[in-house]
Amino acid sequence: MREYDNLDTDYDKYIKTEPLLSLQKDIDDLTNPDELCFIVTHQSMELWMKAAVYEVDKTRAALENNDFFFARRNLKRTALILKHLSHALWILESMSQSDYHEIRLALGRGSGSDSPGFNRLMGALPTLWEPYCLALERAGLSLDQVMEQPHYDPHVLAYEAGMALLGVDKEFQTFRYEHLQAAKRQIGLKVKSLKGVPAKALEQGVLKEFYPELWQAVERLTHKTTGDSY
Ligand code: HEM
Repeated sequence: MREYDNLDTDYDKYIKTEPLLSLQKDIDDLTNPDELCFIVTHQSMELWMKAAVYEVDKTRAALENNDFFFARRNLKRTALILKHLSHALWILESMSQSDYHEIRLALGRGSGSDSPGFNRLMGALPTLWEPYCLALERAGLSLDQVMEQPHYDPHVLAYEAGMALLGVDKEFQTFRYEHLQAAKRQIGLKVKSLKGVPAKALEQGVLKEFYPELWQAVERLTHKTTGDSY
């Protein structure tokens, strides 16, 4: 494979291409020809998850500052990053099961459940709910009011920020669902994971909601409007 030429342009210096491009195994050391794709997928996802955690931190600060507008903007970006991660998983579907097994054997006890980005997101996302409720309270609004009259001017930004939270919850669940499908396709769900847990346990994660109160508010509105029982 062609080596990179001198990586010393302003672009290289700013993006830090030299260290970045040296973070993958050398081509000669790859377990098989699919391993570079596997490593790059994981490394780039760690970077995106780092960026998502930062957006979540900025969202919390915005809510503490009563700024629903910026909270919404950062949440929308977070949701788009999560959607991108779901799509990135599809690239791994180009790998045959038997080729993946060669990589998996080389992984040792390495497990995606140790992903620092994923675990930081799992810790950070739930911390948005309380600041959102407090910001509503300070604005003299209740969630049900805002849901019932989303277009009423004083409600608009609070409503949109709430819906952006819902969007992040949905995209996180979708990522976990796509990942479950990836695991099912590559190794099957009956197999014990590299840490001894059945891969089937991933199914429980798919249903995890970070903001159940928001989903309940949707149900309450349906019930109140149509009388549907729930
Ligand atoms: C060939 C593709 C993949 C397969 C077959 C696969 C398989 C698995 C399995 C079986 C588990 C269960 C737990 C364990 O092994 O310890 C797991 C967990 C996990 N993997 Fe993957 N994985 C794949 C790709 C990825 C990628 C690209 C990422 C991105 C960082 C990732 C992140 C995770 C995370 C975050 C968990 C914990 C998930 C949760 O608790 O819901 N995986 N993976």
